[in-house]
Amino acid sequence: MKKFFINTYGCQMNVHESEKLAGILFRRGYERAQSNEDADIILLNTCCIRETAETRILGNLGMIKKIKEKRPDVIVGICGCMPQKPGNAEMLKKRCPFIDIIFGTFNMYKLDEYLDAAENHEKISEIWDKEDKTDDAPIRRDGDIKAFVNIMYGCDNFCSYCIVPYVRGRERSRNFDDIVSEVCSLVRDGYKEITLLGQNVNSYKGGAPEFSHLLRALTTFDGEYRIKFMTSHPKDFTIDVAEAMASSDKIADFIHLPVQSGSDRVLKAMNRRYTSEDYLNKIEMIRSYIPSVGISTDIMVGFPGETEDDYKDTEKLVEKVRFDNIYTFIYSRRSGTVADKMPNQIDLSVKKGRIKRLIDLQFEISDELAEKCVGKTYRVLCDSWNNGIASGKSSCDKTISFQSERNCYGEFLNVKVVKTKKNKLIGELE
Ligand code: 5AD
Ligand code: SF4
Repeated sequence: MKKFFINTYGCQMNVHESEKLAGILFRRGYERAQSNEDADIILLNTCCIRETAETRILGNLGMIKKIKEKRPDVIVGICGCMPQKPGNAEMLKKRCPFIDIIFGTFNMYKLDEYLDAAENHEKISEIWDKEDKTDDAPIRRDGDIKAFVNIMYGCDNFCSYCIVPYVRGRERSRNFDDIVSEVCSLVRDGYKEITLLGQNVNSYKGGAPEFSHLLRALTTFDGEYRIKFMTSHPKDFTIDVAEAMASSDKIADFIHLPVQSGSDRVLKAMNRRYTSEDYLNKIEMIRSYIPSVGISTDIMVGFPGETEDDYKDTEKLVEKVRFDNIYTFIYSRRSGTVADKMPNQIDLSVKKGRIKRLIDLQFEISDELAEKCVGKTYRVLCDSWNNGIASGKSSCDKTISFQSERNCYGEFLNVKVVKTKKNKLIGELE
């Protein structure tokens, strides 16, 4: 039986798309290999959001070239966002002529057809497809308690630094009833945490007046489970969504709300369409509805023209909000975007200095926030258990480790935080 290995780069959206690719491969009767070395089909599901991702993928292609030299019958395919970035498919064909199949995010559902052709020694390069039928693909999920569900694709926001709208196209919302029935069957199958995915979930328009209606519809099934969603754009996050979250235990008390910068000048140049004050007001509104909410964010340093004062404004915002977690990025030039043509690109050494300071600042905040959890009890979904040591996440996305003689994987349990260890939370079963 033929074996496949999928190398996934990038975000949860890509992780879920790899589950769809795996679904198609299992339907063909193939099975999973342990590594690229023992696979007959090697796929790279790629990301091009930052240059570092692309560099890593090109590095891995060097390693895969050696496998192909040793075993010429291996089929190598590259898909996802990277080949969709203008110029990349041609670059890949030139630099890596050993690749058999090049395809994009719109035509993943055609993998079957592409493999038939590649097994016939044909080369395929097909980047765009108007049909966009990814929802029809069978899904082989990686986990048995946590699942991803797409609710929309693409993005219309055109933040000036971002390549996503160019590679993933305009916003398309998935049909309301299809999402409800997918979540319903996941809950019936025993999944406990379902994350709704979209580049901008708060502008969902698939047959419901607003995203909050979809959220409420997903809280009506029997049993204990949690709905999460990401990513939210601050300009589109409404009171209705906060109300829906507050009204049901089945929606996690957690929001990922990327702010990107604390400087109004930079936010304007980024085309984010909110000010730091708007953002702070939104956080206040959310916390007024859900006092225990966990909030994480994305922050970018070194956007073109970012001065020391702009950077300091970001630090000030981080100090004011006191995020539970921040994902920090060094601005990366993406050809074709508006920001790539902006003057005053920042030196890498300055960017590195700023990201380090930001990480250090957040580390201090996380330490203080962790201390505040001691003595509190959280409802935790256990997602790992090994020899008496368990770990899981609270509704507000805190990771807590605890001891349990019994294998409690997949169960919701009350865990009291008793101490911290390097800002990790250690708890006891109640
Ligand atoms: N450079 C650095 N980070 C970027 N992101 C998006 N585009 C870029 C870029 N060109 C970050 C943003 C976004 C996250 C998913 O990736 O912070 O929220
Ligand atoms: Fe990129 Fe902005 Fe769309 Fe997010 S909202 S995917 S950062 S363009």
